[in-house]
Amino acid sequence: MDYQIHYFKSLTSTQDKAKEFSKKGLSNIIIISEVQTKARGRFNRKWHSSKGGLWMSILLKPKNTENLQHLTFAAAVSVVKSVRKITGIKTNIKWPNDVHYKGKKLCGILTEGIFGKENYVIVGFGLNVNQISFPSDIKDIATSLNIINNKKINIGKLTKSIINNFFDLYNNYYNKNKLKTIIQMWKRYCDTLDKNVTITTRTKKINGKAVGIDENCSLLLKLKDNKMIKIMEGDTRVRY
Ligand code: BTN
Repeated sequence: MDYQIHYFKSLTSTQDKAKEFSKKGLSNIIIISEVQTKARGRFNRKWHSSKGGLWMSILLKPKNTENLQHLTFAAAVSVVKSVRKITGIKTNIKWPNDVHYKGKKLCGILTEGIFGKENYVIVGFGLNVNQISFPSDIKDIATSLNIINNKKINIGKLTKSIINNFFDLYNNYYNKNKLKTIIQMWKRYCDTLDKNVTITTRTKKINGKAVGIDENCSLLLKLKDNKMIKIMEGDTRVRY
């Protein structure tokens, strides 16, 4: 698939820039910025984006915009595969979409839909690559590939690989409605299942055992009284 990459030195957020491109009716556009001054994460949280990371948004115009969770899963899978190939580092996915290394966050994914006469999707990747330090509020929960391997990573090579892997999953599975295969691949790298977890949703905290993923990428949680519930979104903390 043909795509165009646009590089910037600094942006408020690559998501915002991708949105601008969507207003021109464009798609298969990739926005990359060296730094972001107002980046956001899930639940509208602030996302730290200093130099050295990969801050990238992919603007798509898929036929089907009803299964955006599967696109997010595909994005996480593409990151894990590329990180393994280019750096040798084996990372895992925490439901729904954090790529982590030994519990420290390496990559977050933010998928946003733009719904109107035509529907667009923006998949945002925030991957800590070559940073060697983090601000004090996140230094205990975040890490970078450089910190793990103690050497500089070729960010260009890694970016290319992530884009290729992502478009492979997008074209051959997402757009062909082979959503189950995306979930199967995701499960291979997920280390949340069979663990006791605390899920924080917008309104509450729930303890339980993560026992499965349903066809909509929701987490199946078994509560203390053996009741099963489905969680569609939230933050996960694994309780060891
Ligand atoms: C998360 O909360 O884990 C998702 C973080 C997503 C951050 C990326 S960085 C590139 C893109 N631009 C943004 O403003 N956010 C996403």
